[in-house]
Amino acid sequence: MDEEQTLQIFFEIHQDLPREGPGAFESTQKAFLMLPELPKQPLILDLGCGPGMQTLDLISLTDGNIVAVDNHQPYLDQLRERAAQQGVSDRISVVNGDMAALDFQANTFDVIWAEGSAYIIGFEQALRQWKPLLKKSGCLAATEVAWIKANPPEAVKMFWAKEYPAIQDIDANLTAIRRTGFRPIGHFILPQSAWWEHYYTPLQARLQTLQEKYQENPEALTVIELHQQEIDLYRQYADFYGYVFYVMQAD
Ligand SMILES: C[S@@+](CC[C@H](N)C(=O)[O-])C[C@H]1O[C@@H](n2cnc3c(N)ncnc32)[C@H](O)[C@@H]1O
Repeated sequence: MDEEQTLQIFFEIHQDLPREGPGAFESTQKAFLMLPELPKQPLILDLGCGPGMQTLDLISLTDGNIVAVDNHQPYLDQLRERAAQQGVSDRISVVNGDMAALDFQANTFDVIWAEGSAYIIGFEQALRQWKPLLKKSGCLAATEVAWIKANPPEAVKMFWAKEYPAIQDIDANLTAIRRTGFRPIGHFILPQSAWWEHYYTPLQARLQTLQEKYQENPEALTVIELHQQEIDLYRQYADFYGYVFYVMQAD
């Protein structure tokens, strides 16, 4: 299977899911409420917004405006449609762009939001690169996978060594936050329900459907099986790694 076919099956697995990573309204709200006082109508940049569940959660928590960026157009179409259904299109700008090469002026945003997306360019590098886009004393909130219990079993270490070798523990991420010129305001581990309800449970259902569709296609089944392994690993070892919300303010 060439790379294009792998991507095709990847996006068939992921299309039209409620979200593209762990997260939940309660967690987005908890992080948002940690922010210091904001202008009445803050301008928020939501990076790697995916289909936009957290974008819509955020817009319900503020009178401000959101610029939502992703580089996969079908996710952006999904967000646009959901925003229209909820009557909030006038406060959300949907932008197809690369989070590694953003085209915004410095000192533009009151808040940067990044749920499950900073890892794409690396947590520390993302903070460093995005900070200039914030106004003075602007804030950034991001989720990132982290070790949350010492001595993970070999199977877990092997999975993460392959999928995201840069994974580190919470203290190391707090150190990275300070190193990039931010002051940590607060952090918390997302509950396990935030992995299941809007992400792994719908993903699991999708895998079952596609397993039947592609039963004669070993290459597609390999991609499906990799997703299944990720879900099974979390089911077994959720005590050892988790998504952590970090809320910080620029020095
Ligand atoms: C793990 S998903 C998280 C999506 C969403 N924030 C959520 O929690 O449901 C990461 C998102 O980043 C997007 N992405 C990947 N590389 C990107 C890039 N270079 N620039 C912008 N978005 C990117 C993907 O299309 C995907 O929607």
